[in-house]
Amino acid sequence: MHDNETAHPNGSPLAREGSPALQAHIAQAIDQAGGWLPFDRFMALALYAPRLGYYAHAGRKFGTMPQGGSDFVTAPELSPLFGQALAVQVADMLERTGTDEVWEFGAGTGALAAQLLEHLGERVRRYTIVDLSAELRARQQARLAAHAGQVHWADALPAQIAGVLVGNEVLDAMPVQLLHRVGGQWHERGVVLQHGALAWQDRPTTLRPPAEIPGTHDYLTEIHPQGQAFVRTLAGHVQRGAALLLDYGFPAAEYYHPQRSAGTLMCHQGHRADADPLADLGAKDITAHVDFTGIAVAAQDAGWDVLGYTGQARFLINCGLPALMETAPLAQRAMAHRLIAEHEMGELFKVLALSKGVEPWDAPGFVHGDRSHTL
Ligand SMILES: C[S@@+](CC[C@H](N)C(=O)[O-])C[C@H]1O[C@@H](n2cnc3c(N)ncnc32)[C@H](O)[C@@H]1O
Repeated sequence: MHDNETAHPNGSPLAREGSPALQAHIAQAIDQAGGWLPFDRFMALALYAPRLGYYAHAGRKFGTMPQGGSDFVTAPELSPLFGQALAVQVADMLERTGTDEVWEFGAGTGALAAQLLEHLGERVRRYTIVDLSAELRARQQARLAAHAGQVHWADALPAQIAGVLVGNEVLDAMPVQLLHRVGGQWHERGVVLQHGALAWQDRPTTLRPPAEIPGTHDYLTEIHPQGQAFVRTLAGHVQRGAALLLDYGFPAAEYYHPQRSAGTLMCHQGHRADADPLADLGAKDITAHVDFTGIAVAAQDAGWDVLGYTGQARFLINCGLPALMETAPLAQRAMAHRLIAEHEMGELFKVLALSKGVEPWDAPGFVHGDRSHTL
């Protein structure tokens, strides 16, 4: 996250300059696409263009304070108790699926991997990280040196996987398409060059949001074909296993609420949020909230069962976080509290659990307050 988000119209005092090389790379892509680049392709380049994109260069990104040069903090960076509580659910999934492998997608600095390995110990024979960012892989290798015998990295998925899959804040980093209803007509939003600068341009489209948006007012939103393709792809590889996906987002009825007329696209830089992905290219994260209904439906259609869906606070409490907090030092307790505080990560963040190839069971993280019925 993307915590403590404050819109900052004048830009962050810690804002970094955008990358002219990335700007030139994107300008070339716009040219090659005939002058108009759909937003999802722009977002993919801004985040993942080799060496230039936000996740592909060596900038700091993750951390608790802007003074350290970081842009946002995620749950495992905030408190090691996050991984310790999550380990309860992962251990249950390993046991129920009869597997001994964990696959983590988008592992950031390796913080969650370190926490899970510390608390799962020998129960994990092999821990494999899949990350689009080669730069982050180097950081993960350094961070996880103590677990070198267990940790592996994969660029491609093997034909068959049996194990537990984990992804914290991965879905929000996947490129989205932007749809804009203007004057009652739906358009897809793309990026063009105007007098050498990047600018928005909307084009009429037959694409529609997955839910009807009552009214005719102007409405900007996102659709998530790549996030949905991701869970479908995983289903094609996983014979027997379970998955835990944690991120900020809502069920479709809330996501596509008529009043959410400006969408959820957001940028993060220096622990400030802003809404202009066309500025400071490569220097800030670009994200959209997750439509958990879309992900759950795509998952089910591809052969996953939904084991549970709930808010992060409820999930972590079900996994025993309060008892862990009681014995933790005071400073750590305060940080862990941010994981479950309603106005921080407790309510906006959700946890979706899936299983495949085994009979679904009552998973401990969802025993109280399962909200699968809201999807
Ligand atoms: C917001 S960061 C979250 C990092 C980490 N999980 C954490 O909680 O600190 C998003 C991560 O997802 C990775 N990512 C995005 N799309 C991915 C994909 N399709 N497969 C694997 N990793 C992906 C990015 O490279 C980045 O490391």
